[in-house]
Amino acid sequence: MAAKKGIILSGMRPTGRLHLGNLFGALENWIHLQDQYECYFCVVDWHALTTAYESPGNIQEDVREMVMDWLSCGIDPEKATLFKQSDVIEHAELHLLFSMLTPLSWLERCPTYKEQMQQMEGRNLATYGFLGYPLLQAADILIYKANAVPVGEDQAPHIELTREVARRFNYLYGKQIFPEPETLLNEFKIIPGLDKRKMSKSYNNYIEIAIAPAQIPEKVRMMITDPARIRKDDPGNPQICSVFAFQRIFNAEAVEAIAQECREGTIGCVQCKNLLAGKMKDYLEPIYHRRKEIESKPQIVDEVMARGAEQARNTAQATMKEVRAAMGLI
Ligand code: TRP
Ligand code: SF4
Repeated sequence: MAAKKGIILSGMRPTGRLHLGNLFGALENWIHLQDQYECYFCVVDWHALTTAYESPGNIQEDVREMVMDWLSCGIDPEKATLFKQSDVIEHAELHLLFSMLTPLSWLERCPTYKEQMQQMEGRNLATYGFLGYPLLQAADILIYKANAVPVGEDQAPHIELTREVARRFNYLYGKQIFPEPETLLNEFKIIPGLDKRKMSKSYNNYIEIAIAPAQIPEKVRMMITDPARIRKDDPGNPQICSVFAFQRIFNAEAVEAIAQECREGTIGCVQCKNLLAGKMKDYLEPIYHRRKEIESKPQIVDEVMARGAEQARNTAQATMKEVRAAMGLI
């Protein structure tokens, strides 16, 4: 195996079964990265509680469902370490110790703090845990001495905070224990929801990654096309059409031709949708079958998570020894 470029950690909140927005927004990147870096992929179940503490629902079920999707898509436990945050309690110890040296103002000025608080009105997020969640994220990252963190743009301020915490720690205790991790912005393929808004579980406009192949045509039929096209030979505008956005991803080699035929009114939307449904089926069917296989052997998930937790714990414990020594605790 070629030498790896460094260490990566990324985390995902347990949201249950994933959708295509998650696949093309994050997972695809992870799948590429696992060949190039030593990767830690963490299901952040404590982070889920920072916002859902009043009604946690079935977090552990959501963890399993999500990990099954990770594995079905090609996240490979032979290449990367997959684990659950709460299985490595050292993250909590590091979070506590970081809280001693992190100025409140660093957390209060995080743009996600005010934004999410407004977005999630109806929940009481004036909590200590919610304010501190970017610091917990910093602990997730730094405990593995990660050099890079793949995230979406919304998370970039948290990686900046992580760098500041690392710098402050190293400065205060005179030891270069933590590297300052880079932000690796996810290469994001824009995938709209069926209704053209962002694909999201809360809008109910999503397609699950592990959708049954037989249901794909029905979902494609629901996608919104150019509303100005009433008759088959009306000229269309692919730029405002959800189907076309999906063609870009699933049928890349034909997009130019489709765009042209759409504009000329020589391809009808029904035909266009049928083409797309076929391509999506080719792409997603193997994922569906891998998922079915994993579902039939549920112990696979338990084994992967147990092994991942053990690997992660080894690294985390070694870092914590250095941290405790630096802070005068041993
Ligand atoms: N805060 C991230 C989110 O809400 C999830 C997360 C937690 C994370 N710990 C992380 C992401 C560490 C990257 C690295 O999506
Ligand atoms: Fe969209 Fe295809 Fe219809 Fe054009 S032909 S509007 S790209 S579905």
